[in-house]
Amino acid sequence: MQQDVHGDLVAEPCWTGPGDVVTIFRQLYDAPHRAYSYLLADRDGGTAVAVDPAPEGITLPLLALADELDLKLDYLLCTHVHEGERLALERLTSRTGARLAASERAPVAADVRLRHGDTLTFGTEILHVLGTPGHTPGCLSYLWRDRVLTGDTLLIRGCGRTDLPDGDAGQLFDSITRLLVLPGDTLLFPGHETHGRSVSTIAEEREHNPCVAGRSRDEFITFRSQA
Ligand SMILES: [Fe+2]
Repeated sequence: MQQDVHGDLVAEPCWTGPGDVVTIFRQLYDAPHRAYSYLLADRDGGTAVAVDPAPEGITLPLLALADELDLKLDYLLCTHVHEGERLALERLTSRTGARLAASERAPVAADVRLRHGDTLTFGTEILHVLGTPGHTPGCLSYLWRDRVLTGDTLLIRGCGRTDLPDGDAGQLFDSITRLLVLPGDTLLFPGHETHGRSVSTIAEEREHNPCVAGRSRDEFITFRSQA
């Protein structure tokens, strides 16, 4: 992302011109878990990042795609980690040789610990780390060029549950608010499928997301406690 003269984040295109593809972005879907994983790559450098690569059913297609496109996985990047996912992530780390990057609060042995405001570089590409706790204490979102990957924090017309251990509805509201002040045309790619959709925009969710549209923080906390 770049900043305009007012200091606001503005979107950058993924392409510099016709036929001049400089990046790769792929969304992979695991139907049984209704989960998305993502493969991001710097085309020229051949380096890639897999975001939330562990759901069963995604790992093999993801690795095959990276191999087919001749990409080297630099990082396995987690928006968040639940207790039951630790082993799969650690196994995938040793299998690929990639570095595992996750929140400093994620329950996994990560090579790189991330927090709000950090950046992560692969090739010439830069990811910006946003702290978005609430669904879990270690939830992060990743801003890359014209899009944001929100994990289970902000879904398309939905949001993450907060009834799991360490979930916090007030924190989740603050995190969603942090995401909704991004430029309206920022593309939103969530960690789970809802309503059969795979992509939204920040502007759409500001207006139509039933979790937060028109709700105060206190109203949101009450809403989540009833979910
Ligand atoms: Fe989750």
